[in-house]
Amino acid sequence: MPDRPPAPAGAAAPWPGTVVIRGGTVVDETGTRQADVLVRDGRVVAVEKRITIPGGATVLDAGGCLVAPGLVDLHAHLRQPGAEEAETVESASRAAVLGGFTAVVAMPNTDPPVDNAAVALEVLALGAASLCRVAVAGAITVGRAGERLAPMGELAALGVRLFTDDGAGVQDGGLMRRALDYARGLGVTLAQHCEDRAIAAGGLMHEGEWSARLGLPGVPAAAEEAMVARDIALVAATGAPMHFLHLSCAGSLSLVAAAKAAGMPVTAEVAPHHLALTDAELAAYDPLFKVNPPLRSAADVAAVRRACATGTVDAVATDHAPHAANTKEAPLDEAPPGMLGLQTAWPVALAALHRGDPGLGADGEAVPALSVADVIGLLSWRPARIAGLDRAGGGDQGGPVAAGEPANLCVLDPAHTWTVEAGALASRSGNSPWRGRTLTGSVRHTVVAGEPVVIGGEAQR
Ligand code: DOR
Repeated sequence: MPDRPPAPAGAAAPWPGTVVIRGGTVVDETGTRQADVLVRDGRVVAVEKRITIPGGATVLDAGGCLVAPGLVDLHAHLRQPGAEEAETVESASRAAVLGGFTAVVAMPNTDPPVDNAAVALEVLALGAASLCRVAVAGAITVGRAGERLAPMGELAALGVRLFTDDGAGVQDGGLMRRALDYARGLGVTLAQHCEDRAIAAGGLMHEGEWSARLGLPGVPAAAEEAMVARDIALVAATGAPMHFLHLSCAGSLSLVAAAKAAGMPVTAEVAPHHLALTDAELAAYDPLFKVNPPLRSAADVAAVRRACATGTVDAVATDHAPHAANTKEAPLDEAPPGMLGLQTAWPVALAALHRGDPGLGADGEAVPALSVADVIGLLSWRPARIAGLDRAGGGDQGGPVAAGEPANLCVLDPAHTWTVEAGALASRSGNSPWRGRTLTGSVRHTVVAGEPVVIGGEAQR
């Protein structure tokens, strides 16, 4: 038998127990079928109509649920090192598995940032002891200052596959061009936070009807569109792949659609809040709804949803951005941007993309509904591929749910309705825009490297 490839850095050791996931509908990239799933020693060993339960097995009831490859978050701010009062790798990993995620990509805007091997190794070590797989993204520039390239080769040698200065876009086009040249040589992907700082300067919310009504300075859609357009030109010039982070407006998505139609190697993600919430949420000047890029117009929300249906968008990524209460409860102009996302991504994406829930902010224009499998694909196997965490990338995420595959799985209930209580959030911060709201869709169980880390909606450690 060939040797298994070594476990990628940040992966948990396989759990030695036996688990049967009983009575669910298995959904993965290969299709949908009714089946039980038998897991042993960290791997799926059988997917069959009715599996006889072996002695000593943990049985997870999946009646009425979807059994899928674990969700993979391309974009999570874990805040460690440097802002442990807001979140730690451990607390974020608990929020992740409660949200159905078996892997997250940690953003590098920590303090110090992940712009060198020592900090990357620290986050990877914290991740290896956490509840899910933690991959790290490296910074493109030293200190995320946008002036000099970070040692991307040193980071790539540790398995870093995505590089970004997220929280800020790389403003200098010449530097971005050089970064793309390096990235192509190293076989890694740059992920851009698309925001032209000069165009966005001073903005607190989306520039539009609501900013005018509220008398607040706005961030025009052009701040995002200008950088997407520039970077598409740089992708054309260099041939290097590029991933666009948290796109929020119709114009940028049209640019990405055109680049894709021209065969360019670009991918795009959108955040759950941009699928569901509009700039009208700022009506009470509540910093809970301050986020970057900002919540946009209802027409933009509809465009984001449509772009998920047409294939322009490759992934839904949370942009989970915990902030301690004392900072987030400051006045709107002082409070940092960002909102929690890990525990609510699945129900929010399901409501926006599958049910087309108008209560969540669409503008009433018809948007084609995605199948439940397509919604899960946007949260699981498609982001796994972009992060290089799928099998082709040497990783263990994204499925399929089949004998011999690593057992990173989630069991999703599409019909369970729950209210987002502060006490149910595992994050150290409470800045969820869904606090107090009722969502339909929950996570019943999550299995990481064969271990049931969430059973019946409860974290097991
Ligand atoms: O709202 C945001 N918060 N957008 C970002 O790009 C960064 C993030 C953060 O780190 O808080």
